[in-house]
Amino acid sequence: MAVHYGRHLTFKSCGVLIFLTGMMGSGKTTVGNLLAEELGLPFFDTDDIISSIAGMEVSTIFEKHGENHFRDLETLLIKNWKLTHGVIATGGGLPCHDGLMETLNARGKTVYLDCPVHVLVERVDGRAGRPLLAGLQPDDVRLKLEQLSETRRPLYLTSGIVINANQSPMEVMKNIMRELYT
Ligand code: S3P
Repeated sequence: MAVHYGRHLTFKSCGVLIFLTGMMGSGKTTVGNLLAEELGLPFFDTDDIISSIAGMEVSTIFEKHGENHFRDLETLLIKNWKLTHGVIATGGGLPCHDGLMETLNARGKTVYLDCPVHVLVERVDGRAGRPLLAGLQPDDVRLKLEQLSETRRPLYLTSGIVINANQSPMEVMKNIMRELYT
């Protein structure tokens, strides 16, 4: 199927926000960068923005101020979002509190990268920088991801586009493009 890429002018004139949702390890950052490049849009990552505003790593925010504080920062960021163009990788838990999934759906196009837990487990193998998995043994990592995925998936599934993310990042990006244009 031909995918038409007459995109830059169209997108720049009407404003385009694409929010990638999904679990940690689902590929939001990698796919988001590819998608942004393909669409000629800037790429953002909510964790990076929060970390740069707070002046510390996300894991340090969790350690020093606790998860609830981090969730408040996510809420502030999304409720006050002003940029009109971009591909945005959202933190895995971001859509799942304070009605933020609904806010994302109202502000732009949401794309859920749907990935089976056993693949997530492989991808988060190096757990550095993932505070929710810090200190867990491999079996507990799997359990934690299963539990999070089960509770979050119904919300993620309200994204405008759902993509099987158990493929290479390039394939995932191309499938998103197809969904956006057809
Ligand atoms: C989290 C996922 C992380 C980060 C924080 C909490 C979560 O983002 O926001 O560690 O609750 O699943 P990624 O999904 O980009 O790893």
